Amino acid sequence: MKKPIWIKHISQLATLASNSNGPRSKEAMSELGLIEDGSLWLEDGKIQAVGTTQDLNERYSARAQEAEIVDAAGHLVTPGLVDPHTHVVYGGSREREFEMRLEGATYMEIMNAGGGIHATTRMTREATEKELFEQTSRRLDSFLQHGVTTVEGKSGYGMNLETELKQLRMMKRLQEAHTIDLVPTFMGAHAVPPEFKGKEDAFVDHIINDMLPVVAEEKLAEFNDVFCEMGVYTPEQSERILEAGKKLGLTPKIHADEIEPYGGAELAAKVGAISAEHLLKASDEGIKAMAEAGTIACLLPATALYLREGAAAGRKMVDGGVAVAISTDCNPGSSPTTSMPLVMNLACISMRLTPAEALTAATYNAACAINRQDLVGSLETGKQADIVLWNVKNYQELQYLFGVNHVKKVWKKGVQVVG
Ligand code: NIG
Ligand code: FE
Repeated sequence: MKKPIWIKHISQLATLASNSNGPRSKEAMSELGLIEDGSLWLEDGKIQAVGTTQDLNERYSARAQEAEIVDAAGHLVTPGLVDPHTHVVYGGSREREFEMRLEGATYMEIMNAGGGIHATTRMTREATEKELFEQTSRRLDSFLQHGVTTVEGKSGYGMNLETELKQLRMMKRLQEAHTIDLVPTFMGAHAVPPEFKGKEDAFVDHIINDMLPVVAEEKLAEFNDVFCEMGVYTPEQSERILEAGKKLGLTPKIHADEIEPYGGAELAAKVGAISAEHLLKASDEGIKAMAEAGTIACLLPATALYLREGAAAGRKMVDGGVAVAISTDCNPGSSPTTSMPLVMNLACISMRLTPAEALTAATYNAACAINRQDLVGSLETGKQADIVLWNVKNYQELQYLFGVNHVKKVWKKGVQVVG
């Protein structure tokens, strides 16, 4: 039996516990459930007790001998961060495109010339299982080092049945082999493969008739995502794919209004998507529709920065009643990062989220965006013991000292994996 762990004298324990149910918006995004001089008792991979050190002294001092004791005086402790949107499984890398963009080429020009997503698709098709496993494991290790304990991952660098399945099966294998929890999303409609250029509807049919049924049958994904964007998939094509997925039990997500305003936010509300992603160019009507439908806005400020675009209207969305989550978008083209702490900093700096809102967006709301809020995203009795101890004393300092990795220790399911 593994020893229980007692983390004591935490200067600031941000539990993220709240009385509100479901994804948080408006004032609820600032409810961090703070405890001064806090304590956590971890056992059997779960949180057994949360409170002040005084509370836990009363309940657990008789068992103190058998526990490993961690003194967290001077430190902030939060739930393990959740990254609800990544493209973490891919082959190769695209550093030359980074240079090309700085020389003046746009993201869409590079993609339309056969680079971008198409380049990674070629490299992912060519990658051996071993290469894909090793490359992705290294990225997952880096996520852990940055305090991230749950990661969503999308297919979409296959764009044929064989390689889409290869990516999704790799996620299944990594879910078993790696400490991190991986949540899989099918994204066959990530771009239009060259063989289907000008025959987009035929590729949509192919996804619906030949890919989705296999993905559902093998239970390889929980979510179904599309790149709804001018020059990629229209809102009508996106809707067909998402509705077909729904019939097979896959919950919709949409890469929406990233490059041009295109009605993606409105579509997300219409099809009952759990979240809409990017939203740099989302319309006011779209934002309103999302607030009414309860669609989570999954915002990716590192992507906006990396593409040198203005960030999404995060402040306006929170004030307008949209529950906001944030994510790295970890991918080889528009956001090659695994740093959720940087993403929290950017959520404050470029979208004017407050430090408290940014933390909610990276924990509880992020967990809601991948339907894991009953397991992770807050520190409450019975939840998974996914915990980060930071080298700062409070949550404001975490967001204020930016671009630095403040992680000191990470526990995943009650086992220390970093520090
Ligand atoms: O979310 N927008 C589309 N897909 C990814 C980028 C993928 C890539 O460039 O390889 C994104 O930004
Ligand atoms: Fe993405």
